[in-house]
This record gives sequence, structure tokens and C-alpha cells, in this order.
Amino acid sequence: MGFSNPLTKENDSKSSHFKITRFEMSERSSLMNLPATLTLALGLLVGCSRAPDPAATASGAKPPAKIKLGFLVKQPEEPWFQFEWKGADRAAAQSGFEVIKLGVPDGEKVIAAIDNLAALGAKGFVICTPDVRLGPAIMRKAHSAGLKVITVDDQFVGPDNRFMTDVPYLGMSASKIGESVGVALWTELQRRRWPIAETGVCVVTFAELDTARHRTDGAIAALAAAGFPANRIFKTPQKTTDVPGSFDAANILLTQHPEVKRWLICALNDTGVLGAVRATEGRGIPAEHVIGIGINGTDCIDELRKAKPTGFHGSMLVSAPGEGFRTTEMLYRWVKDGTPPPLDTRTTGIFITRENFEQVLKQEGILP
Ligand code: GLA
Repeated sequence: MGFSNPLTKENDSKSSHFKITRFEMSERSSLMNLPATLTLALGLLVGCSRAPDPAATASGAKPPAKIKLGFLVKQPEEPWFQFEWKGADRAAAQSGFEVIKLGVPDGEKVIAAIDNLAALGAKGFVICTPDVRLGPAIMRKAHSAGLKVITVDDQFVGPDNRFMTDVPYLGMSASKIGESVGVALWTELQRRRWPIAETGVCVVTFAELDTARHRTDGAIAALAAAGFPANRIFKTPQKTTDVPGSFDAANILLTQHPEVKRWLICALNDTGVLGAVRATEGRGIPAEHVIGIGINGTDCIDELRKAKPTGFHGSMLVSAPGEGFRTTEMLYRWVKDGTPPPLDTRTTGIFITRENFEQVLKQEGILP
């Protein structure tokens, strides 16, 4: 498979950063079958990668069993997680292991999934947990089943409210990515010469998830540092991290502030911004009076493709396939060779808009 050297590591003082630099053409095109992935995702046990086994012989001798690894995600319907699975599949095809992909929207499903993995003879799993506070229970269960664990995206939190830093984690540099959203919102506001007195910031928050809080706090800090008045920055909490959740959150805020004529919008991810943009449309605010900037870059492709621009201006793209590839590959090396993964790996983002998204998403292997 042509997934040669997809990850370039950039070390800084605290953690290692990486970004995808190149995908081969054959890999790009195989990332595209999302409807099929979505259908599969709805079941608990949604599929295994089955690359040809190089160990199979012409004589018909049975090849040694492949190492099996799980990849558990909290929201299998979200394109972000489908692209992570695609990256995991690439790693499996390249290194010759098997990935068992499971949707785990709640704690019960996580525990059932770990039981399933153990019964299937898996040796470990990568997880984006539906609730970071399940961390201790997940680790107890994994230990008793003899499974190794790497967390992706949402870091486990222990009973002392601190991150469980002994469990390997790979995820966004959340504050930095949030800050870059704030800077991009400010830059676009200035480019459009919006009067500040008519403008407000709608920050859709999900405070119970640390990476989400760090992202929106980062955006607020950058806007404030640029000179946007703090008393025109409004937080509104979403109860659920889907479009209806952020739509409701934004709608409440818009109702409270009819005097605001122009809105900057940020949230934990693309989905959060999409719901808020839909809320502005519902209240008759023209698209030219809205600048929404998301995070992920995977969940706004249809939006950016719309013939008529909406208030969704752009997104900080982080490589979901890269995160899926890297975490499963690290887990495989850990299981196979005993090489422990780094405890903390962070990823950075690239700004995409209607102008450049097709080109950047192609470069990053997300679009064919
Ligand atoms: C969280 C969000 C996802 C995505 C990941 C990226 O899990 O819910 O949409 O942003 O973080 O790390």
C-alpha cells in the first residue's frame, strides 16, 4: 500500500507534533466510501480490515493468525471518526494486522465492546471514549482482559479530576487550535471591516470535555488579545455534541441578543459551528453577517461545497486519518515488539476555507 511516510514528527519541549505530509493516490481514493462506512458504523461490531496476508503460502499452509486490535469511537456517525477508522485501516493493511471497529456511544457499550474484543482474542484497543470519566473503569476492565489501551482525541480523567497521564494519549493541541480559530475570526472580521459595535461572538461550549473547553477558551483568549471587547463575547452551552445540540444552544443566545447584527461563531468542532450557523439562518440573519469557523475540517465538506456561501466560513483541519493511522500503528508496535508509545502526542491544524479546501483536503488524503 502506498502510505509511505505519512507522518512527520516535529518535537517541541513538551510533546511531539505530527502532520500528514503525503498520501499516495491509491490511498486517497479509498478514503471515500463514507456511506458504506456509516452503514457499518451503526452496528456494534462494524467490521474488520482484511488485507491480503503476505504470510499465506501457495501450498495452502495456514498463515499465522494476525494480531487483532480494536478501534472504539464515541460518535461513529461523525465523519471525523469515520476518517480515523480509514487511517486505522491503512495502518492495518500496511503492517498486516486486523482492526475491529466498534461504535461505543455510552459506557455500557464500551464495557460490552471490551468483552467482545477479549472474546475475539484482540490484544488491545484505541478509544475515543463517550465520557472521559469512564477512564478508570475502562482501564480496570482492559487490565483484567489483558488488553493494552491508547486514548485518542478525548483524554481520560481520573477520580481526582486530573488527566490520566499514564495512559498513552494522542490528540489535538486544543488550546493552540482554539487560538488559531480566534485569530482567523478576527482576521476575517477585519477584512470585511465589520463594525465591532454591531458584532458579537457566539461561543458554543461543551465545558465537561476538557479538549472542548480548551479549544473554545483558546478562541476567546485570542479574540480578547486582538482587542475584541470581552463583554461582546457570549458563551452558550450545548447539551449534546451534535447539530441539534448546538442549534438549540445558539438559538437561545440569539434570542437573548437581538441587538447583535453580525456574529462570529466558534465551537469545539465543525458540528458545533454548523448547528449555530443553522440557528442564525433560522432567525433570518443574512449569511454575509455570519463568520463561523469550525475545527476538524472533516465535517464541513458538504457545507463548503454548497453553491451559495453560508455563514460557515472555514475550519481548522486536523488529520483524522493521520490520527487513526498513528494510534493503531503505535498500538501494534506495542503489542508486537513491546515498544511503548509516547504518553502524549499532539496534532496541529491547517486553516481551510471555500477557496482552498478541495486542494488541502486532497493533499491531506481526505478527498480523492
Ligand atoms: C473530540 C470531538 C471530535 C473531534 C475530536 C478531535 O472528540 O468530539 O469531533 O474534534 O475531538 O480530537
